[in-house]
Amino acid sequence: MPGIVGIIQTKGGAGRSTVATNLAAHFSFEEPTTLIDCDLPQGTSSSWYALRQAELPSKNLLFTTAHNHLELIQKAKEYSAVSRYLVIDGPPRLAEVTRAIMILSDLCLVPLGASAAEIWSTTDLLQTLEEAKNYKPDVDARLVWTRFRAQTREAQELKDAVEKGLKLKDLQARLGYRVVFSEVLARGLSVEEGSDRIAHDEMLALAEEVKEILAEKKR
Ligand SMILES: Nc1ncnc2c1ncn2[C@@H]1O[C@H](COP(=O)(O)OP(=O)(O)OP(=O)(O)O)[C@@H](O)[C@H]1O
Ligand SMILES: [Mg+2]
Repeated sequence: MPGIVGIIQTKGGAGRSTVATNLAAHFSFEEPTTLIDCDLPQGTSSSWYALRQAELPSKNLLFTTAHNHLELIQKAKEYSAVSRYLVIDGPPRLAEVTRAIMILSDLCLVPLGASAAEIWSTTDLLQTLEEAKNYKPDVDARLVWTRFRAQTREAQELKDAVEKGLKLKDLQARLGYRVVFSEVLARGLSVEEGSDRIAHDEMLALAEEVKEILAEKKR
């Protein structure tokens, strides 16, 4: 069975597609990987993949879409047979497909910008994660801090508030606020292929941490 990572967040623009595309690219450097875009018709991951295949075609990175939970379950099964990793880009709403991602995934990542609005909007998602535990008791979801401005007091205070208020573990790896993330997304690249060394290292650390969590679960 592959390691399945679902990227979920009800707040639009939080960074789901950024995490999904960069993680899928990273995994595909090493192992056969499938990226599944469930955020349709928006299709950010779909556009990214089309650009990427034109520029840097790779047999190690497969791609598919799922318009609803039934299609997702079927595609996940189909691509599990040929992939070591599945990365699922979720929609910005609490749809059936979001619940299916929670249940299918070995690990759910919840990207969160250090802003009060994003933090408030995550409460409903947490409620749904709790409900998903009725179907799968070991649902594992972790926050990923994105656009994090480590030097600001606001970011640190919000992080502290979330640690106390939202009962969700966070990844140690964080993504800072860096323009290269939008530049590479628009070119079908990964930040590990971009020119910003710090962003490169942040994503590498994130991918390594995710791989470690997945490996721990298979032990
Ligand atoms: N760490 C970051 N630093 C700077 N910009 C970022 C960062 N992460 C994401 N962005 C930018 O923010 C925008 C939204 O990110 P992204 O598309 O990944 O979010 P999303 O949650 O998938 O949004 P949507 O609801 O539109 O699907 C994009 O332009 C992206 O390049
Ligand atoms: Mg998106």
